[in-house]
Amino acid sequence: MDSKLIPAATAARLAAHAPYSSFKVGAALLTKDGRVFTGCNVENLSYGLTICAERNAIFAAVAAGVREFEAIAIVADTREPVSPCGACRQVMAEFGDFKIISATLDGRTFESTVAALLPRGKTGILDRE
Ligand code: THU
Repeated sequence: MDSKLIPAATAARLAAHAPYSSFKVGAALLTKDGRVFTGCNVENLSYGLTICAERNAIFAAVAAGVREFEAIAIVADTREPVSPCGACRQVMAEFGDFKIISATLDGRTFESTVAALLPRGKTGILDRE
């Protein structure tokens, strides 16, 4: 099932709106019920409003009513497989622990998990007596 994720993220990357960085990223999110949601980065003239490909894929799934994820693939044209930013890691952690597969356009991959990339991501938050 994972095998179709990198091609899906590669295709999603083509829709990226990245006029400021020229750095296009695609993501494809596999849900536990076998569906795939994709996202690309969408930049903004007010730089801080930019949304990464990963968050757009996650938000598309959540908006469709799906919150249980198996894996996310991320594709960019880099030498090394790209690492999701801290904000995306925190958003991923909101929905549990799942596999993260980063890939370059020329086929290098790095596999990890949400928990490995964001240790203690939710520990203590709103945990009051
Ligand atoms: N970006 C992503 O979409 N995902 C990542 O994992 C890394 C960074 C985007 C944000 C911005 O549009 C551009 O790549 C440069 O940081």
